[in-house]
Amino acid sequence: MGSVQIRVGIVGATGYGGGELIRLLERHPAVEIAGLAARGRDDEPIGRSHPHLASTARRVAAELPDGLDAVFLGLPHGAAAAAVPQIVERGTAVIDLGPDFRLRNAADYPRWYRFDHPAPDLLTQAVYGLPELHREQLAGLARSAGPRIVASPGCYSTTSILALAPLARAGLIGDVVVDAKSGVSGAGREAKAEMMFSEVNESVKAYGVGGHRHVAEIEQELGLLCGAPIEPVDFLPHLIPMTRGILAACHVRPTRPSSQAELDELYSAAYGSEKFVAVVPEAPATKHVLGSNMFQVHVRWDERTGRVLAIGVLDNLVKGAAGQAVQAFNVLFGLPEAAGLEQLPLSP
Ligand SMILES: NC(=O)c1ccc[n+]([C@@H]2O[C@H](COP(=O)([O-])OP(=O)(O)OC[C@H]3O[C@@H](n4cnc5c(N)ncnc54)[C@H](OP(=O)(O)O)[C@@H]3O)[C@@H](O)[C@H]2O)c1
Repeated sequence: MGSVQIRVGIVGATGYGGGELIRLLERHPAVEIAGLAARGRDDEPIGRSHPHLASTARRVAAELPDGLDAVFLGLPHGAAAAAVPQIVERGTAVIDLGPDFRLRNAADYPRWYRFDHPAPDLLTQAVYGLPELHREQLAGLARSAGPRIVASPGCYSTTSILALAPLARAGLIGDVVVDAKSGVSGAGREAKAEMMFSEVNESVKAYGVGGHRHVAEIEQELGLLCGAPIEPVDFLPHLIPMTRGILAACHVRPTRPSSQAELDELYSAAYGSEKFVAVVPEAPATKHVLGSNMFQVHVRWDERTGRVLAIGVLDNLVKGAAGQAVQAFNVLFGLPEAAGLEQLPLSP
């Protein structure tokens, strides 16, 4: 790597995604954090919103400075869509952690997110920032003269798509039920009564019953891999009393009988050379990836039921958000893909 540092800014720096971006980018060998922004902040020390980052001595302003190479956005849905056109107009690359550029079809925004997209022409130019599936497009974006927008995938979506991608590519998905569990940080930092300790602790509940928003991108990406629209994905998320982590158990009725040998071959071919994906021989736990950019998947042919079970785990704030965004940024800027992402998981 040369000595020229890439100047980046982070908007939404006071949130969970923003905090993880600072933690990772602060140690990135090719990055200079040139500015942090959040609404209503006026040169506020970062320790006020993120005490664990106080030693960085960074400060948060209302606006980012000019002259940035890339801007990371960690904003609620709808807020990024309004901000991105002006950023890309200046030639700055955008890596958006939210959903505002993930869906190709503008009509999906009022349906799933209840807003009309203000820049529909940019949707088809954005790249879905899952490097394991779209590495070539991310690298192509770097060479393009047009706007550079990376739409970083959702946390549930990353878990489900990576768990199912080899099956989708092989045309093996007949019917699929994704039974997913998430820690509470997946909902962000904004105070909500249903996220209070006394509501969440020692309890588990399903939510998004009848259609969680991440279904739209899961179906979009699996459909692209199949080469045809995929059957509706039956996706049910649960909130569980832990801070970080997602586990998605994907139950698939295949289009034809399979075998463990076939599944092992499909997953090894898909992920054998992926730095951040491990195909594991036992059912994984969220603790096996905590604090790291790793995704672990276990796949099993069940002779008795005639189904495939694929279980994926990741840390929603790293491979499910900030880590994945940095990974895609590395591809976009022609850096080693693992730069800034070498942390091993934390345990116990
Ligand atoms: N949490 C996850 O696991 C995860 C995973 C993948 C993707 N994402 C996506 O990443 C994005 C950020 O999520 P998060 O978990 O970091 O959320 P968060 O913790 O709630 O942080 C949101 C940030 O946006 C700011 N903000 C809130 N409302 C705003 C508005 N109307 N206009 C401008 N700024 C506003 C907040 O500032 P204040 O400090 O002033 O409130 C904060 O800096 C979301 O789109 C989310 O869907 C999250």
